[in-house]
Amino acid sequence: MADQQDLTGKVAVVTGAGQGMGRAIALRLSELGARVAALDLNSAAIEETVAAFTGSGMAIACNVSDSAAVNSAFTELQAELGEVSVLVNNAGTGRAAGDGSDKMYELMGQRNEELAANGESKTHVDHLIHMQDEGWKGVMGVNLDGAFYCTRAAVRSMVRSGIKGSIISIASTAAQSGEGPVHYVTSKAALIGMTRALARELGSRNIRINAVAPGPTNTPIMEGIPEQWIKDMEDAIPLGRMAEPSEIAQAVSWLASDASSMCTGSVLVANGGSYFF
Ligand SMILES: NC(=O)c1ccc[n+]([C@@H]2O[C@H](COP(=O)([O-])OP(=O)(O)OC[C@H]3O[C@@H](n4cnc5c(N)ncnc54)[C@H](O)[C@@H]3O)[C@@H](O)[C@H]2O)c1
Repeated sequence: MADQQDLTGKVAVVTGAGQGMGRAIALRLSELGARVAALDLNSAAIEETVAAFTGSGMAIACNVSDSAAVNSAFTELQAELGEVSVLVNNAGTGRAAGDGSDKMYELMGQRNEELAANGESKTHVDHLIHMQDEGWKGVMGVNLDGAFYCTRAAVRSMVRSGIKGSIISIASTAAQSGEGPVHYVTSKAALIGMTRALARELGSRNIRINAVAPGPTNTPIMEGIPEQWIKDMEDAIPLGRMAEPSEIAQAVSWLASDASSMCTGSVLVANGGSYFF
């Protein structure tokens, strides 16, 4: 039987493909035979991603939170590679200018110091009250608006060409556990809502849409986090470690391919058991 994960001849778009999970996903889809368009803010980084492809592909510098930029990126990639079969909404961020993160981390440090010294702390780790509109919109703009703009562009391509496509959005375990900054957690929970609504709407066209919810994963996002925090985090994961980006890429490629032909509207949890949905 042919490998059901084979993506030969299909066009795949991966956002945030310059590093971390996005790069691993783009490389995995390329390995499976797809022609991959790698989108990211960082053009040098996506050139590096594309240089490592097994087959053909292209790098397009694009800010996914800019609707016009997304439409023009899709026009460019469709002209070069063809109509889209797979989209992976991976670009994401947990911080934006004006979101009060600096203050929140300062308070968290203060609380940890007090707990270590006295075994108790009256410090509240406030984030919301320090968050400006631009900080909220900055994160929602990338994580949620960006996924909406890309999904709409991909579905227009699939509908125009009659392709039975597959769309995967990278959510997070935080969508269910609530652990994380309010803008980030809200955006990831909303991505799951979008996945479910579109699974219903697009089912009759045989376009599938699913989410992957990773837990802590060893990407550049983890750089700068104190070693002790990483250790505490890993101790709380039943499998005892963070995921590697390639492990998330395996989950994504399964959903991208016909191997998952009966899955739509689902959330594939890949978090080592750190939180059960
Ligand atoms: N690493 C984790 O522990 C973890 C856990 C759960 C979910 N996630 C999610 O997985 C996805 C990938 O995470 P990662 O750890 O690889 O992140 P990362 O920060 O290492 O990489 C994100 C990439 O997205 C790009 N990007 C950011 N904003 C963009 C924009 N507006 N337009 C285009 N590209 C943009 C960045 O340039 C970068 O290359 C994100 O959606 C993240 O929220 C990560």
